[in-house]
Amino acid sequence: MDLFEYQARDLFEAHGVPVLAGIVAQTPEEAKAAAEKIGGVVVVKAQVKVGGRGKAGGVKVAKTPDEAFEYASAILGMDIKGHTVHKVMIAQGADIAEEYYFSVLLDRANRNYLAMCSVEGGVEIEQLAVERPDALARIAIDPSVGIDRAKADEIIEAAGFAPELREGVANTILKLWDVFVKEDATLVEVNPLVKTGAGDILALDGKVTLDENADFRQQGHAALEDKDATDPLEAKAKENDLNYVKLDGEVGIIGNGAGLVMSTLDVVAYAGEKHGDVKPANFLDIGGGASAEVMAAGLDVILNDSQVKSVFVNVFGGITACDAVANGIVKALEILGDKENKPLVVRLDGNNVEEGRRILAEANHPMVTLADTMDEGADKAAELAHAGR
Ligand SMILES: Nc1ncnc2c1ncn2[C@@H]1O[C@H](COP(=O)(O)OP(=O)(O)O)[C@@H](O)[C@H]1O
Ligand SMILES: [Mg+2]
Repeated sequence: MDLFEYQARDLFEAHGVPVLAGIVAQTPEEAKAAAEKIGGVVVVKAQVKVGGRGKAGGVKVAKTPDEAFEYASAILGMDIKGHTVHKVMIAQGADIAEEYYFSVLLDRANRNYLAMCSVEGGVEIEQLAVERPDALARIAIDPSVGIDRAKADEIIEAAGFAPELREGVANTILKLWDVFVKEDATLVEVNPLVKTGAGDILALDGKVTLDENADFRQQGHAALEDKDATDPLEAKAKENDLNYVKLDGEVGIIGNGAGLVMSTLDVVAYAGEKHGDVKPANFLDIGGGASAEVMAAGLDVILNDSQVKSVFVNVFGGITACDAVANGIVKALEILGDKENKPLVVRLDGNNVEEGRRILAEANHPMVTLADTMDEGADKAAELAHAGR
């Protein structure tokens, strides 16, 4: 999960990284009040999860609260690389003498961490990395050691910081490493890291990506999620612990096990070529259990997708046998009632398949068609989706 700059700033502050005051505002009035509270020169900064805000006109220096009001009015609602600005951060203005760059990230290819640092930071870092790679120091970080003072010194040396800056920069790098480890981040980037006129080191912009696999031990991270940006169906699926990804087609897919669901997508896409080129509408893996509740939750998510015209349930009975799955489907249809308003093709195979099919045949639900094979089911579901257009 990527964080907004103001969230990164808050994490930095909590771990002792030197930052300036920052207050989030959602209206020009709030921006003005924030500027009054902070006092002096402030910077109005668009909060969008994309870089290059400065160049896009999303970072403006305001000398008075009225100017903060004015810039916030202009920036709120602005579109920056396809991201609409809903919030701005009013940041205390810094007296910048020099801009540097520092980041630490998970280096998957090399199975360790990588620190990058440059004394030429600021808005053009991507260009610098391409045009003058020597100006960007890259130091591998052994995960079992991390960044200790010696490693911080090595990074600072490689980046070429002046001797009088080394102490301040090293302390900041150590604190940023704390953020990286203690918050289970996969990226912590500061651009610019600045030296002020008074010689202090400050993190003026922060980009943090948190590892969602660590959510179980990071109780505070759930609150950082941007609920406005999550697709409502994906949010609903997540609430029910379903692995769901929305796609663009019209055939809803439910299967158990990622491998089976993936091959179902392929088979449906192939069958769809004969039926007006209909395509799968989603990936949805309900996992091993396939209980009535899980099946109902899965169907509920898919049926709420207005693009869906038919649903293909493709389940292989293993430890949970087909009769249990069939009972789950029948119960799920009861739970959903009138919400089940789109044709459903069900293919069961595996453990206790005869009994499973018997249960579904006996239930004789008007919207349900049984298929014996995966190909047959895919073809039927594609045909029904095409007919339902
Ligand atoms: N609080 C601040 N005080 C003074 N200047 C700032 C402040 N925050 C950002 N800037 C200036 O604006 C530039 C762009 O801001 P930044 O936060 O890095 O956004 P982005 O990287 O998205 O363009 C910075 O390189 C810096 O020169
Ligand atoms: Mg920046």
